[in-house]
Amino acid sequence: MPSPIKFAHVVLRTARFDEMLEWWSGVLEADVRFANDFIAFLSFDDEHHRVAMISVPVEDQELGRSGVDHVAYTYAGIDDQFETYQRLKLQGIEPYWMIHHGGTLSAYYRDPDGNQVELQVDALTMEDTDTFMRSPVFAANPIGIPVDFDDLVARYEDGESEESILAYPLATA
Ligand SMILES: [Fe+2]
Repeated sequence: MPSPIKFAHVVLRTARFDEMLEWWSGVLEADVRFANDFIAFLSFDDEHHRVAMISVPVEDQELGRSGVDHVAYTYAGIDDQFETYQRLKLQGIEPYWMIHHGGTLSAYYRDPDGNQVELQVDALTMEDTDTFMRSPVFAANPIGIPVDFDDLVARYEDGESEESILAYPLATA
C-alpha cells in the first residue's frame, strides 16, 4: 500500500495575521507566494507553499481556534491517492472535505483527536502552480473547487487519463 512521498506543508489559523506572516516569513527566510486579507502562502523552496496561514477573526475563535489548521502530505500520483482513498473508506475513514485547489487535488481527514490532515497530489508542476497562484483566477478563488472522489475514481476506472482527472474543474466548467 502506498505511503506519501513527502511532507508538504502546515497551515495555521491566526487572529494576528499580519504579525504572523511577518514572523514566519522572517524566521524561515520564506517568500510570500500569495497573500490577500485572509490567506497567505509562504515557501522557501520549489514547493508552492510550505506554510500557509488563515486569518481567523477574534470573534470566531470559539469556532476556529488559533493553531494548526492542517498538515499536508503528498502522494506520487492519483494511483496512490485513489488507492489510499479507497483503503481508508473501507476502514470507515472518510474525508470531510474534497477539493481541487488548482495546484493540488486534496482530500482532508480528521484523526481521532480532531487534527486535520490533507492527503494530496500535485495537479501541476511547481512552476505552473507558482504561475497559477499569481493569476486572476487564483486571486478570485484561492481556496478551490469542491470535487467528489467517488466520481473521480469512477472516471479514472472508466479509462479517463490522469491528466484529465487532474485538470482544474473550472477549465472545463
Ligand atoms: Fe493545505
